[in-house]
Amino acid sequence: MQKIKTSRHRQLKIVVYLAMSLAFLSALAMPFENDKRVNTGNTAAVAEVKIIDEATMERDQLAEESKAAFNEAYTVFMHPRCLNCHPSGDIPLQGDDSRLHTMNVKRGPDGKGLYAMKCKNCHQDTHVPGNNMPPGHFNWHLPPAKTKMVFEGKSPRQLATSFKDPKFTGFKSMDEFIKHVEEDTLVKNSFTYGTRPPLSHPDFVVKVKEWIAKGAAIPDK
Ligand code: HEC
Ligand code: HEC
Repeated sequence: MQKIKTSRHRQLKIVVYLAMSLAFLSALAMPFENDKRVNTGNTAAVAEVKIIDEATMERDQLAEESKAAFNEAYTVFMHPRCLNCHPSGDIPLQGDDSRLHTMNVKRGPDGKGLYAMKCKNCHQDTHVPGNNMPPGHFNWHLPPAKTKMVFEGKSPRQLATSFKDPKFTGFKSMDEFIKHVEEDTLVKNSFTYGTRPPLSHPDFVVKVKEWIAKGAAIPDK
């Protein structure tokens, strides 16, 4: 016991001496170092600044690509096939000019229509063929009154900000957002009738994923 203690004590002493002499030596060396190594020091500083610059540039580049991807996806979000069910008011929109839905159709608390005017009365499980006939889907409705998920009137900046807000989407994560855009049958259905959105569904999903993978940057406007 005693032996171990002493040898530990000795080791500790050596360490302390070493540390003290190192400190002393470096204190001595300091003035010389300052004189002689100014150049090397600067080079190191320059190199560091350059690395930081490259990292910043890379980050800026990613943010720009992210915003560009969102701006492309935005053309789909704001297309009448999507926008018409994401109005700012409580009346769905219809047609390529996104006019107010006729026949006094309203959202209702659950988005499925108010009183007797239920969406399902007219919107069947499949599209009714012919002009001015209601398009169909088994789950045809608007977002509910408490989360209206408004797209109408929003700039790319405003829409991207909304998508990142869980109170707006009701989604816990961006993964859920991707899943909705990629797999929701109501979203896919919008690529099957009338004037089609400017991107195909797969191309649209690619843009949404790129936006998120590159940092979900918020567009400037
Ligand atoms: C028939 C109406 C309807 C159409 C058309 C429609 N949506 Fe939706 N959308 C909804 C409803 C209802 C919800 C709420 C979630 C749910 O109940 O499925 C929703 C939710 C969403 C959400 C998630 C909430 C949010 O705003 O973040 C996104 C994103 C979305 N829709 C995108 C689209 C896109 C893109 C299109 C067109 C390709 C589209 N929607 C077309 C009815 C529609
Ligand atoms: C009384 C019948 C009726 C009811 C009820 C009804 N709709 Fe419609 N809806 C139509 C008809 C008909 C059209 C096609 C109009 C046209 O193309 O001129 C249409 C078109 C639409 C469109 C336009 C689709 C597009 O891409 O242009 C949307 C969106 C829509 N309805 C949503 C709803 C929602 C949501 C409800 C329930 C809250 C609902 N509708 C209730 C008859 C109805």
